[in-house]
Formats: sequence, structure tokens, C-alpha cells
Amino acid sequence: MTLRKTVIRGTGFAVPSNIVTNDDLSKTVDTSDEWIRTRTGIEERRIAPPETGNSDLAIEAARKALDRAGLSAEDIDLIIVSTITPDMVSPATACLVQNALGAKHAATFDLEAACSGFIYALSVARQYIATGEYNHVLVVASEVLSRITDWSDRSTCVLFGDGAGAAVLSGTDEGESDFVSFFLGGNGKYADILNMPAGGSRKPASHETVDAREHTMKMNGPEVFKAAVMKMNHSMRQVLTRAGLQSSDVDIVIPHQANLRIIESLRKYLDLPEDKVYVNLQKYGNTSAASIAIALAELVESGRLVRGQLVGMCTFGGGLTWAACLLRY
Ligand code: UT7
Repeated sequence: MTLRKTVIRGTGFAVPSNIVTNDDLSKTVDTSDEWIRTRTGIEERRIAPPETGNSDLAIEAARKALDRAGLSAEDIDLIIVSTITPDMVSPATACLVQNALGAKHAATFDLEAACSGFIYALSVARQYIATGEYNHVLVVASEVLSRITDWSDRSTCVLFGDGAGAAVLSGTDEGESDFVSFFLGGNGKYADILNMPAGGSRKPASHETVDAREHTMKMNGPEVFKAAVMKMNHSMRQVLTRAGLQSSDVDIVIPHQANLRIIESLRKYLDLPEDKVYVNLQKYGNTSAASIAIALAELVESGRLVRGQLVGMCTFGGGLTWAACLLRY
């Protein structure tokens, strides 16, 4: 069976206009701009207003991606939304996006792999396109992390932000654009170092869970930090080995935007110059699944990423999960 090539035909992103700076946070928790900048690299983040749901950001990003792809919503065969902050548990946010866009021929589902969700979703979309099952797949990664953030916990509330990124993937028989390799991983043994304990079927919402702030993210920062560096480095090496390439062959690497110190360690392990590693966390903080999707769309929009270039993306997150891919853009 001949596999079809996949091109990322259009990208888009959406972030709330409301900016919350480190100084703003230092008025509500015991922190400082200096601590947040030096320990994380983050300077500000976008926080959605109360009336904005995940699907609102997802829809805005998706519309831009469709527009740039030159396709109409009716052309889309499948919509995958990757998120840990869906509008609601059911229906899937992908259904809400489908309805708003008028993508009436599209199948719909959500995919949850925390911060690894965008690359996981790209890999799924790519399978459908490569086999010829679908021709156009819309992948959206969207998060409103501010709704599951404990704003009284300084060790987590300074890290996260809201936003969405989208990509339209299409089958192609022309040109050199295609995914070159993927690597996905996970280890549920570490489920408890980054999780949201309540709100699922094991611990549904109750007065007790609300009082104990169990509907917000809990994280062992230093443990996640160590795993992040190790797993992103391992994942990038896997996709390079699978493709028979070296890190020097890559034009730009988009790492998950969690912490500048994690990104710097990764850059050194991979022996990459600074200008080959894209960083935008100073503006948005960690937007989980949306982080790489936003960065990809920004790179395309700014003209820094052009057709024919080799892009590496790598990530890690709750689960734990991790993933990487190489894309000939
Ligand atoms: O997408 C995946 C999600 N997660 C991540 O990627 C996060 C990975 N982890 C990290 O980025 C880092 O571990 C953090 C930024 C979360 C924390 O940095 P750290 O250098 O690992 O700090 P730490 O947790 O070891 O804490 C060091 C000190 C502690 O004080 P003591 O015990 O030394 O007195 C903390 O209480 O810093 C304190 N601290 C803060 N101080 C001021 C923790 N958060 C803050 C804060 N402001 N916001």
C-alpha cells in the first residue's frame, strides 16, 4: 500500500487579549517578577475572560487555519481537538467546533494527552491521511488552563496561560512536504506528579473536593522538570534516528513551552544554536496542548518557517506523556 504524503496546509492561533503580568501575580501571591523570570522565563500570560470557553478559542484558531489553507469547513473530513480543559466532559469540544464552523461532513473527537496532545493529534491525523481514509483533517489544540489553576498556589499559578492553535492537514501527491517521523511515549507510573485529582468519575465534584481545591492542577515541579528534559531529549533523538538525520539537519525546533531552563537544557543536549530553537513562553506561559500549535502558527505567520524547511517538535506533559515529530514543512 502506498502511503499518501501529508502537508500542513494552513495554521492559525487565538489568544485572549487580556494580559496578566508577573507583577500582577505578585499582588495576589507571594512571588516576584524576578523569581518568575529567572526560574521560568515567563513574563506574562493571556487569561480568558469568564464568558470565554475553550471552544471559543478553538473556533477562532480553526477559522484562521481554514482560511490560510484556502478550504471551507465543508471540506474537512475529521476534526480532532486536543485539550485537558474541554468546554464540558461530554460532548467532545470537537463537536462544538464542528457545529460552529459548519463542518457538516466531519467526524469529531477529542484527544487527551496533556501537553503532548498536539503532537499526538498530528500523528493520528497523519495516519488517516497517509492511508487515504481522509483527505483534510483539522487539528486544534486549545486550553483554558486558568479554569483549573489554583490561583492561591504560587508554585503553579505563575506557569500557565490560555490559548489555542490549529492546523489543517491535507493529503498531497506533489512537493516534498510530509511528516518524516514520529515518536510517542507515556508512563502512567508517574500519573501523580502532575494531575487534577477531582472532577472525574473516581472523585466527582463535592463540597469536600471544592474546599480541598482538588479541581485544580497539582504538580511536583522539580520531578516534572527532570522528566521533561530527559524525555524531550530522548524523543527528539528517536525521531532523528528514525529519519537517519542529525540535529544539525533541522532548521528549527519547537519545544513545548513550559520553562526556559528546560528548553535551554534540551538545546544543549541536542547541540543546537539559540536561533534554531523557538521560544514564545515569555508571552504566553505554558498553554499545555496549545503551546506547540500556537508556536507553529506564529512561525508561519512571521515568515520564519517556510516551505521545504525541516521542523522538529517535541513535548512532554501529564500522564506522563511525551512525543516528538519531524516535519518537512
Ligand atoms: O507542561 C508540563 C508542566 N510542568 C512543567 O513543565 C513544570 C516543570 N517544573 C518547573 O518548571 C519548575 O520546577 C518550577 C518553575 C515549577 C519550579 O522551579 P524550581 O526551580 O524547581 O523551584 P522549586 O519547586 O524547587 O522551589 C524552589 C523555591 C521553594 O522555596 P524554598 O523551599 O526553597 O524556600 C519554593 O517554595 O522556590 C519557591 N517558589 C517560589 N518562590 C517565589 C516556588 N514557586 C515560587 C514562586 N515565587 N512563584
